[in-house]
Amino acid sequence: MTLANIPDPEERARVVAQDLENVLHPLVQHRALEKSQLVIVGAQGSTVVDADGSTYLDAMAGLWCVNIGYGRNELADVAAEQMRAIAYYPHTAMNLPAAELAEQINGLMGGGYHVYFVNSGSEANEAGFKFARQYAKHEFSSEFRFKTISRYYAYHGTTLATLAAGGMGDRKVKFEPYAGEFVHVPAPTCYRCPLGLSYPSCGVACAKAIESTILGEGPETVAEVLVEPIMSGVGVAVPPDEYLPMVQDICHRYDVLLHVDEVINGFGRTGKMFGHQNWGISPDIMAVAKGIISAYLPLGAAVVKNKVFESFLGEPADGRQVFQVNTYGGHPAAAAVAVRNIEILMEEKLAERAATMGAYLIDGLKGRLMKHAITGDVRGKGLLIGVELVTDRESKTQLAGPLVQGVVDSCRRNGVLVGRSGGGARHSNTIVLSPPLIITRSECDTLIDVLDRALGEAAAKLDGA
Ligand SMILES: Cc1ncc(COP(=O)(O)O)c(C=O)c1O
Repeated sequence: MTLANIPDPEERARVVAQDLENVLHPLVQHRALEKSQLVIVGAQGSTVVDADGSTYLDAMAGLWCVNIGYGRNELADVAAEQMRAIAYYPHTAMNLPAAELAEQINGLMGGGYHVYFVNSGSEANEAGFKFARQYAKHEFSSEFRFKTISRYYAYHGTTLATLAAGGMGDRKVKFEPYAGEFVHVPAPTCYRCPLGLSYPSCGVACAKAIESTILGEGPETVAEVLVEPIMSGVGVAVPPDEYLPMVQDICHRYDVLLHVDEVINGFGRTGKMFGHQNWGISPDIMAVAKGIISAYLPLGAAVVKNKVFESFLGEPADGRQVFQVNTYGGHPAAAAVAVRNIEILMEEKLAERAATMGAYLIDGLKGRLMKHAITGDVRGKGLLIGVELVTDRESKTQLAGPLVQGVVDSCRRNGVLVGRSGGGARHSNTIVLSPPLIITRSECDTLIDVLDRALGEAAAKLDGA
């Protein structure tokens, strides 16, 4: 099968020059981009194609997002058909696909929610912060609840407020100072417990820290607690089973809303439709993006429990309505594509598939990679997986950045694109994997082979150093 129209080398060189001359890329250093020059021109399933004809197994599903895989042309048809019917009208009015999508999402949550549409994960969390504050203004008018409690090393987006909520110092430092309404607590990164404890003797002290923080700040100042059920960007931290139920209990005790960030965890990635469903909790606010539409178009949503929605109900003159708008929220074409994307997730049982294929991949990685002394930890849930690299297992000293990057580069040379965690010196030594949920067993085997080889090379370099 032809996966892409490959341009001739001169055309590829022209595009590279055009890009480097005109585009400012996110996150990557342009000097590095000048050398790496990945120009993706096509994709099918879990495979992407470079303009030089090279194919790669995309073990990151783009940026943790192409859950149903690439090349589903029917989604292009859905978008075109919707654009012909009605391409756009603001969501202060109703439209058919957005209503259907909201009903679908509410159903996946078991009912009792309303859905507010935005265009990205950052905006979904931003909307969540604002809903929490507006809710607090309505429901606790004699108090001043405005703070969000979130975790160190979390990533919640790229806007100023979501960066402030996040806890990755290296991502934040260039834009400081922040306004200070986000208060951080230790994260459940058990392999490197920030409290120096071990599970289970720790008694899940990191969850208890949320309660002491609420009390320290004054419950009358705290609007919400924000958690990503399984922290992804820091290197895939699966919390102990007690953690999220404990966090929920603490929120209930102090009338604080529980806001979950399902931007990566959501839509099947962790083996359930939403990550928090692995622990049976019931959030008040949920941010989604990425897998909601498998990145075929930009779309996100902030999903709120009816108790929050009802706080915004009243007569127009009461001024209780949601005080925000965004031009593209509820875009009919994006909504129609997302509806079909979710139908595909359901029809092909991709959440269940993530659970079984994820278990296969994690077992395979453990079986093959633990022989390398530099493999510190293999962990994950569903198809959200981290392989943490260390100089030796005893000391858990982080493998040096260039060696970790060497593993990523070796995988690419051998036809597999893997990711690397963010989180500064303490947490950038994990290879992260988040492939399309349709990844096959033989592709998982290839991924294991290629990582095994890359780790072997890194271990040899470490020994030779
Ligand atoms: C957990 C989490 N939340 C929010 C975001 C922000 O999403 P977006 O990049 O669509 O704004 C991301 C992005 O990677 C994320 O990983």
